[in-house]
This record gives sequence, C-alpha cells and structure tokens, in this order.
Amino acid sequence: MAYQVIRNTLIYFSPTGTTRTIAKSVAQGVAINPREFDLTLPLEREKKIYLEEAEFLLLAFPVHGGRLPPMAREVVGALPRGRRPVAAVVVFGNVGYGDALLELYDLCLSRDFEVKAAGAFVGEHSYSHVLGENRPNEADRELARVFGVGIRQSLFCSWNIGREAVSRDALSPYRPYPNKIKLNFMIRPRSCEVCRICVHSCPVGAFVGGDPKKIDFEKCIGCAACVKLCPNKARKFVDDDFLDDIALMAANHNEAKNPVTFLPPNLPEYFS
Ligand SMILES: Cc1cc2nc3c(=O)[nH]c(=O)nc-3n(C[C@H](O)[C@H](O)[C@H](O)COP(=O)(O)O)c2cc1C
Ligand code: SF4
Ligand code: SF4
Repeated sequence: MAYQVIRNTLIYFSPTGTTRTIAKSVAQGVAINPREFDLTLPLEREKKIYLEEAEFLLLAFPVHGGRLPPMAREVVGALPRGRRPVAAVVVFGNVGYGDALLELYDLCLSRDFEVKAAGAFVGEHSYSHVLGENRPNEADRELARVFGVGIRQSLFCSWNIGREAVSRDALSPYRPYPNKIKLNFMIRPRSCEVCRICVHSCPVGAFVGGDPKKIDFEKCIGCAACVKLCPNKARKFVDDDFLDDIALMAANHNEAKNPVTFLPPNLPEYFS
C-alpha cells in the first residue's frame, strides 16, 4: 500500500553508538525531521510510545549473537499495532547479521506493520577495534543516506519487502541465542577517574550502587558500552579464552563486509 505519511519516528537501541549513527544517516536520506526515541537506557524504555495512523517508523538495532538483543522484542512488542510503513535496520560487527534482520522483519509483521525497506549495515564490533574498524565510515554513512532516499520513494509505491528477501542467509526457526558471555573486566585504577560514564551508559543498569567496579553479571548483557565509552580506556577485557576467541574471529573476518539493503524494485529516484 502507498502512504501519505504525516509523521516520522526513529526508534533505536545502540549501546556503543554505531546503530545510532547509521539510523541518523538513514533518517537524513529520508529527509525527515523525525521524532527520535533512543531506547538504549532503561528509563527511556519505560516510556510509552504513541503512534499516529499513517506514521513512518525507522527501527534500528544492533546484532547480538546473530540475533536481535532481547530488548528489541520488548521495544517493538510494546508499539501500538496497525498498518504503518516501516524500515527495518540492523547493524553488525563485520562478522554477519545471522537471523537478526529476519527477526526484526517478523517482529514488524507481528505488529501489522508493512516493511517497505530493510538493511544490514556494518559498525565496529563491540569487542574489537579491528573488526569493522572505525565503521560506519563516511562511505557507510553515504550509503545509509542513499538507502534513506530509496525509503522515501518506497512510501509512494504499493510494494513491500517479501520475507524471502530477508531470509536469504537466515535460519527459521532462528538460531538459539548463544550462551551468555560472562565478560571479565579489569579496571586500571590509576586510569579510572570515577566519572561514572560507564555506569550511566549501561543499558540494563548492571552497576551495583553506581559503583564502576561492581557489576551484576546476572543483568549484564555483555554489550561492551562500559568498555568502549570509557574516556580513559580504564576498562578492559581480561579473560584469555574470550580474547583468543575475539582474535580468531577478527582473523576469520578481516575482509570488510558491505552493507546489504532491500528496497522495492524500480524506484525512480533511488540513485539520483
Ligand atoms: C553480545 C554481542 C554479540 C554480537 N554478535 C555479533 C554477531 O553475531 N555478528 C556481528 O557481526 N557482530 C556482532 N556483534 C557486534 C555488534 O553487532 C556491532 O558491534 C554493532 O555495531 C554494535 O552496535 P551498537 O554500536 O549500536 O551497540 C555483537 C556484539 C555484542 C555486544
Ligand atoms: S567510564 Fe572509565 S574512568 Fe569513568 S568511572 Fe568508568 S571506568 Fe572509570
Ligand atoms: S555492565 Fe554489561 S550491560 Fe552494562 S554496559 Fe557493561 S557490558 Fe553492557
């Protein structure tokens, strides 16, 4: 169905910021000045989001273990049902996006949304500065903007993205969530200025009593925001097996991957 969109909304979850960067670049291409919901922090996820009938939604989540992070289900599941045009975006760390895009697609359908466009973009891996180093870079951001232009066009046509397009490399039923990674951090006491940026950037409030040294590992989702966002690089991973696994993964995926986008065919101005 074609849409006369009356409002645009951007919703994302982004512990280390790469999904946010891509989502904003896509939004720029759609030429929208969207309402923006950054649902990374727990308090933001408690707020109810009201949607108009003909409202365009841009939903963006990172890939965790070839899947969506569990709160994506919570976030999308809480959106009001209704026929609305949606663009589904995932961001992965140069390894692969597994079933995450299909999962987001299915979540959209479960709310009766119509998926007009879908894309998987690359961001620097949460656990490594080598995997997807410095991405999204300028070329990624430009591609995201061009994708956004395509999205704008897609709103005027009746074509939606079919499930088979986003299923290409995915499994259905989805692959199970990998075993929970128990990250082992070390804080270099002389580098830590107790600024508590790590505490305030944790998406699940896992720091006990606001203490940067005390993490509740039952709550921790291993997103690495506290490591990557520390301005003093005072926090680092220390588990040897974990570090070996990451080094191996980096060696196996050292070639830069390209973003993948799905749009209705024959959009007139997509590449103009
Ligand atoms: C727990 C966890 C699992 C991840 N699994 C994958 C994966 O399966 N494939 C991949 O390419 N990247 C994976 N990544 C990397 C992130 O998808 C990537 O770094 C993304 O850019 C992070 O988004 P953010 O900056 O919005 O947090 C994983 C990251 C975390 C924290
Ligand atoms: S962000 Fe870094 S410097 Fe600040 S409290 Fe956390 S570990 Fe310490
Ligand atoms: S404590 Fe765990 S969930 Fe919180 S920011 Fe650090 S890695 Fe992410």
